[in-house]
Amino acid sequence: MHIEAFQEQLIQGHAGSRVRSAEYASRFGRWDTLASVRRRPRRDFAGGEGGLYFPPELYPVVLHPLVTARGADVVEGLLLRRLYDYLHFTTELENLAVIPVAVKISQGRSGLVLPEPMRADAYKIVTDEAWHAQFSYDFACQISAETGVAGPHSAQAAPPAFLARLDELRERLPHEIRGVESLLFAVVSETLISSILSDIPRDERLYRPVREVVRDHAEDEGRHHVYFRSVLRHLWPALTPRERQAVGPLVPVAIHAFLEPDYLRTAHHLRGAGLSTDEIGQVVAESWPPQSVRQSIARAAAQLTHYLTEAGALEDARTLASFEESGLLLTERRSTTGAAGS
Ligand SMILES: [Fe+2]
Ligand SMILES: [Fe+2]
Repeated sequence: MHIEAFQEQLIQGHAGSRVRSAEYASRFGRWDTLASVRRRPRRDFAGGEGGLYFPPELYPVVLHPLVTARGADVVEGLLLRRLYDYLHFTTELENLAVIPVAVKISQGRSGLVLPEPMRADAYKIVTDEAWHAQFSYDFACQISAETGVAGPHSAQAAPPAFLARLDELRERLPHEIRGVESLLFAVVSETLISSILSDIPRDERLYRPVREVVRDHAEDEGRHHVYFRSVLRHLWPALTPRERQAVGPLVPVAIHAFLEPDYLRTAHHLRGAGLSTDEIGQVVAESWPPQSVRQSIARAAAQLTHYLTEAGALEDARTLASFEESGLLLTERRSTTGAAGS
């Protein structure tokens, strides 16, 4: 079993027979002085001044009249649970989607022949992500101790929605191609620019330690973003046409898996706040109109969509159609038009 785990590649087949490139510019040269695991302290939740747990605009159910009518304590409780969900999502994303892929790259077992410095940098990413998982867990435990509200990491906790969504996606791939998706999921999740990472560090309404925890994470993710863009540049040309045609149309599904709100978790929280099933349905539907969800996902994925276009992924007709149907090209088109006009 252990030998098998050692030998197993992410992408099946003989790595040496795939297209390869030596191109790579490392952004980890100053990792020892820049990585949050090296230079940032453990963030303390207790003892700081007050604030919000999460930006209400990023969890719009708390702005709905059926929720605000229940009072400020209910709103605060929901924002706390949203923060918990984010911390839990982060822990599971690192542990289950990013670290295993970075470990395989560090072992030289991605199934691609990557430049040697990419392997060395993958070790640093494993360390960064383990630290992110650790401090997210630790921070939730501290808040739970301070507030008395049970944290999100109990063994009975429901899995974050993205896990089931990714499983469904994997099921849609032919057996001999399975494995490619894990590398692709890592590329997708590491190159999306979520409003959480970009907005929270600057949002002065929030508890300061919340902003600091997210800022520590966001700074490392800037380097990871560049790294996984390089992974994509190596990955796409190395795939066979059949592999590209199989996974390309599923990329939008993966993007949505990571960015679409966790409706079931939210329904659970709203039920806990005393809302009826009908009220929950109304609050969820009116807070997240499908069109605005699609637009915010397209914005967060705009750079990734651009990288995929650059890599030639959208030259495949089914992949292009899938991006169009998911509304992911709206931003790309708009920015292209904008650039042409300036
Ligand atoms: Fe991370
Ligand atoms: Fe990362």
